[in-house]
Amino acid sequence: MPLFRKKEKERVLPRHIAIIMDGNGRWAKKRSLPRSAGHAAGSKNFKDIARYCNKIGLEYLTVYAFSTENWKRPQEEVNNIMNILRDYLKDAKNFKDENIKVKFIGNLEPLDEDIKELIADAESESENATGLHLNIALNYGGRDEITNAVKRIIKEGLSAEDITEETISERLYTAGQPDPDYIIRPSGEYRLSNYLIWQAAYAEYWFSDVLWPDFKPAHLEKALDEYNRRNRRFGGI
Ligand code: IPE
Ligand code: IPE
Ligand code: MG
Repeated sequence: MPLFRKKEKERVLPRHIAIIMDGNGRWAKKRSLPRSAGHAAGSKNFKDIARYCNKIGLEYLTVYAFSTENWKRPQEEVNNIMNILRDYLKDAKNFKDENIKVKFIGNLEPLDEDIKELIADAESESENATGLHLNIALNYGGRDEITNAVKRIIKEGLSAEDITEETISERLYTAGQPDPDYIIRPSGEYRLSNYLIWQAAYAEYWFSDVLWPDFKPAHLEKALDEYNRRNRRFGGI
């Protein structure tokens, strides 16, 4: 089974990297700053890393921005995160001018109307971009995603014999996209937190103690070097 999809100098890139952008709060705490400062720093870092991934020719990047469980946080923090998202979406430079094709994955229904409009604009404005496919997971939960796929299958009236793994994959937010090859989680936590649980079935993982706002291209490069040393067997020999 080939490990490599794309040649880049001596090294090869995974087709799809997924990142859990965690550790903003702890980053702020270490500096005696409010958690909002951590989210601002995390957002800036996200833009830098997305641009870097685009520059090196990565095909797909999926980032975890807000989970279905993150609504449990204080209202003030949720509002702060949504405002950071608004600012990001208003700045077309972040995707269109960069030739980045942006797509939001998650249940967008409960979001504020203005955010939904900004998302629709960002997606349509970057529709023809030929660079990085950037998925932003927002109000995303893997279990929620699979539950919705099951509901759709039932509504479509499919019968049990017709259901294959593809039937489910095609009804996930990531339909038509390759599964993540490499899942990166900084911040010292060793869990998926409901991220891409179906798609991650055969992903490789990379964990690091670095907090997300401190995760720089050099860390990504280290992770990519490590990926090149992995031997993916997919159950074969
Ligand atoms: C990730 O950083 C951002 C979101 C979950 C929205 P955290 O806010 O979870 O940071 P820590 O884990 O508290 O340090
Ligand atoms: C996962 O981080 C979600 C995002 C990074 C958006 P959390 O900080 O919410 O995860 P837990 O609570 O530590 O599992
Ligand atoms: Mg966290």
